[in-house]
Amino acid sequence: MKFYSNICKPNKKNLAKASRLIKLGKVIAIPTETVYGLAGNAYRNDAIKKIYSLKKRPKNNPLIVHFSSLIAMEKDVEINDRLIRLAKQFSPGPLTYILSLKPGSKISKLVLNKNNEIACRIPNNKTFLAVLKQSGVPIAAPSANLSNLVSTTTAIDVQKEFGDKLPCILDSNKITIGLESTVVSLGSPITILRPGAITKEMIAKVLKKKVLEARHKGDVIAPGQFKKHYSPGIPVYLNQTKAKTHGALLVLGKHKIADNIFFLSKRSSLQEAARNLYILLRKAKELGYRSVSITTIPNIGIGKAINDRLRRAST
Ligand code: TXA
Ligand code: MG
Repeated sequence: MKFYSNICKPNKKNLAKASRLIKLGKVIAIPTETVYGLAGNAYRNDAIKKIYSLKKRPKNNPLIVHFSSLIAMEKDVEINDRLIRLAKQFSPGPLTYILSLKPGSKISKLVLNKNNEIACRIPNNKTFLAVLKQSGVPIAAPSANLSNLVSTTTAIDVQKEFGDKLPCILDSNKITIGLESTVVSLGSPITILRPGAITKEMIAKVLKKKVLEARHKGDVIAPGQFKKHYSPGIPVYLNQTKAKTHGALLVLGKHKIADNIFFLSKRSSLQEAARNLYILLRKAKELGYRSVSITTIPNIGIGKAINDRLRRAST
């Protein structure tokens, strides 16, 4: 395997270096339990501008800010009862909360949505938490991919996406989920803006309240909800049983083996399928297939989030 000098093991020395780089306003890649983040100091406008420019992301698509704990969040964000109840169950973890910024917070305004709200998450990944604690600052991190393309879940895929533009890509084999976090707005009504591993039902059960799913019409408060997103760069076809000509087929469950057949999960595990999805979408493109077809994914649990991403990838 080729050696890349900017991919580094998350040992003591490299974690200290990564934390220093973050503090200084540099942008680096750090793994979370969901996908890789393109990470920068949330207090520094220069770091946030750099993230937008590296990703070629439209300025009006806000960024998630990561904290090490609720206590760390309290300095910058208005803590409310719904947040406390959900965080007790699901944080650290793949759930992002839309909240109000505290007056006087030094967090860059560039990360906020058009209502001046901030998206906050406590990631459940040792490496990310170590950098949060050692740098002592909140870290803004969108998924580490070019705007509108598929997120990355391996250090090598981050390297292929950004090359040597990043001074450090912390390596990890601890991406346990593989799909981006659930995004929930805690206002009234409580609304899921992006489905993920934490489902609407799980949130409703904790809050004992009705939870809505955002429709992509008038209620878009962030362009990440828009349809065209998560594209592997070749056409994607859902609910297929066969590959198209010169196409690949991603399969959930059993299938006869062939060069263009890739298994999301042979044992039909939706968790395993979520972990493999972005890796296989990227691989199919890289191997030169002209399209990706995918067998039917049951619309339950994390399957809902898989289908959400695939629907967008296919438009
Ligand atoms: O799992 C994840 O959430 C990963 C890891 C790195 O934490 N991050 C991630 O970030 O997926 P990104 O930027 O690729 O997706 C964030 C989504 C986008 O759809 C964005 O529009 C939305 O969250 N978002 C961010 N800030 C928001 C805000 N203040 N209000 C509403 N939506 C927001
Ligand atoms: Mg993204």
